[in-house]
Amino acid sequence: MEIVILDDPGAIARLAADTIAALLHEKPAAVLGLATGSSPLSLYDEVAARCARGELSLAEARGFTLDEYVGLGAEHPERYRNVIDREFTSRVDIARDAVHGPDGLAEDVPAACAAYEEAMAEAGGVDLQILGIGTDGHIGFNEPGSSLASRTRIKTLTRQTRLDNARFFGGDLDAVPTHCLTQGLGTIMAARHIVLIATGEEKARAVHELAEGAVSASWPATVLQHHPHVSVLLDDGAASHL
Ligand code: GLP
Repeated sequence: MEIVILDDPGAIARLAADTIAALLHEKPAAVLGLATGSSPLSLYDEVAARCARGELSLAEARGFTLDEYVGLGAEHPERYRNVIDREFTSRVDIARDAVHGPDGLAEDVPAACAAYEEAMAEAGGVDLQILGIGTDGHIGFNEPGSSLASRTRIKTLTRQTRLDNARFFGGDLDAVPTHCLTQGLGTIMAARHIVLIATGEEKARAVHELAEGAVSASWPATVLQHHPHVSVLLDDGAASHL
């Protein structure tokens, strides 16, 4: 695990964007794993800016999102598919139909999860997975207690995660869905390169466990210690317990 501590989110964004640019240079049809949450937003801004300047093209790239809330209507602004479109895919030249997410409105949830895994496999797997981390150490929506080998499935969100994410729902905890579909830890581990971004002191405990804790389902991100190519990009606050 490579840990890089940088001065500010802008520097983190530039380094992560350089990694995406290098991958796309080698492999224009690369498969990107896209994360929601606030952590990758500066990166998405940086990639969009480079695309606007003609320095980078995602025209042949494909994308798979990590997770999705269950039950939010197709037009709901916090539906992760809409969030990714708003924050990233609509601002770059990636084809709209080249981006996929788990179907949080599916009637047959296990079939939708299996279809999602199959689509990722057919695309050749994820080349570069962008990740954030929850304050409780979750990645995607793999909450504490998640099987380290899990694949895409339905999960119940913890109260802590719903409290953390209530800010996106006008601060109304009751408006935050109780369930989600998420790539499993085993699914995430299948990506060839993982870039995890964490900023701010509220992530320091989770980052400490990620890098220095015992591998355990109690801190799901610790599974990344078994991955051969993980880059963890931190600011001073997130690195403060290392
Ligand atoms: C959500 C997402 C995760 C994300 C986490 C951290 O729960 N499902 O993918 O990593 O929040 O979010 P933030 O980056 O806003 O702190």
